[in-house]
Amino acid sequence: MADRPVVLLGVTGGIAAYKAAELLRGLQKAGMEVRVIMTRAATKFVGPVTFETLSNHPVYLDDADLRPADSGITHIEESRAADIMVIAPATANTLAKMANGIADNLLSTTYLAFDKTVVLAPAMNTNMWMHPATQRNVELLRERGIFVVEPGSGELACGVFGSGRMAEPDSIVAEVKLRLQVQRKRDLRGRRVLITAGGTREPIDAVRFIGNRSSGKMGFALARAAFDRGATVDLIEANVDMPAAPGVRQTQAPTAGEMHAEVMQRLPETDILIMAAAVADYRVAWGPSGGKISKGAGELAIGLEPTTDILCDVSAHHRGQFLVGFAAEYGLEGLVRARDKMERKQLDMIVFNDISRSDIGFDSDFNEVYVLTQDSEVKLERAPKETIAELILDQIALVVRARRGETPLPA
Ligand SMILES: Cc1cc2nc3c(=O)[nH]c(=O)nc-3n(C[C@H](O)[C@H](O)[C@H](O)COP(=O)(O)O)c2cc1C
Repeated sequence: MADRPVVLLGVTGGIAAYKAAELLRGLQKAGMEVRVIMTRAATKFVGPVTFETLSNHPVYLDDADLRPADSGITHIEESRAADIMVIAPATANTLAKMANGIADNLLSTTYLAFDKTVVLAPAMNTNMWMHPATQRNVELLRERGIFVVEPGSGELACGVFGSGRMAEPDSIVAEVKLRLQVQRKRDLRGRRVLITAGGTREPIDAVRFIGNRSSGKMGFALARAAFDRGATVDLIEANVDMPAAPGVRQTQAPTAGEMHAEVMQRLPETDILIMAAAVADYRVAWGPSGGKISKGAGELAIGLEPTTDILCDVSAHHRGQFLVGFAAEYGLEGLVRARDKMERKQLDMIVFNDISRSDIGFDSDFNEVYVLTQDSEVKLERAPKETIAELILDQIALVVRARRGETPLPA
């Protein structure tokens, strides 16, 4: 990657095309060079001269750029020089083409040929955005590793209030900056990372269970980020309702017992274990019953027995793996309990989050955590879980490399 990263900005034909000019300026202010491709429809909303002037570079257009290879630099060559592709606004039409591999204009052809990170900022009328076809297309693109900056809610160009309004240029710039940072770092290349995510459910009978509110978002963000930094990633998930994580081998382990078995089986081929799942401490003592317990007149007492403590078992059997635990504790005094847990279970690192707060942690897209090691305590301020995942991996990579006598990679 050159000193000044090059962004290929695709602009499509929606009302929000005018905001792409502001986005272009934001990307430049963040130290990036920008090249612009416009669809034919986009040129009906904003003239190419605007982007040409702002980017100080010719704009790639369908008519001008589908030219023979001997006419000089082609759009494909230009796209090779780019470090990241951003499509903003992305119309429903362009999303559909991307999801289906249709390459009938310059932008969709360049997208298909582009093999680096792609960020999308959809923008459209609420009904278009909520349409099952659009939602399915976005889900497909996410599964393939495209980063989608979700549209926000507000007044749309058609006069109604609803979702579908393009994310603010600042949020898109922030996402692009984050993705470029991740691309620069390949500090987990060759490491085998095992991550657990979600919350286990212990059956009471055939239809009921004892569970918890863990969504699995933190574990998924860690898996995605570790993969982007070059690691081979195994994700063991308990009851997570999220699109597949691209590049990551995923295994289902809905109960604490199954989670324990999967972790122990993979431990010998693991360099770094990150236990982000909320694993039940107790299960129903009588074991899963085949049927459904009928309603009776009196009280129903359910006896509970402890599940196997996975991290304790791992500590007893590990051979030099780097062990990271999570401690979800109530209130800041939980920090002391987290440190105690790290020492008791002989972990290399523990990530503490305060579950008394409703604006972070369980179910939330945000988190704020403390990362503890034997000799350090780092607070990661409230941020989206994707950012927190990056920062946790920074800490892990730092300690792992230091232990091996390797110098830290430049940020
Ligand atoms: C006034 C007007 C506004 C439009 N705004 C949007 C929009 O915000 N989002 C969208 O997905 N399509 C919008 N469309 C429809 C697209 O312009 C149309 O689907 C076009 O084929 C998109 O082409 P492209 O994806 O190649 O840019 C709008 C159309 C018109 C006439």
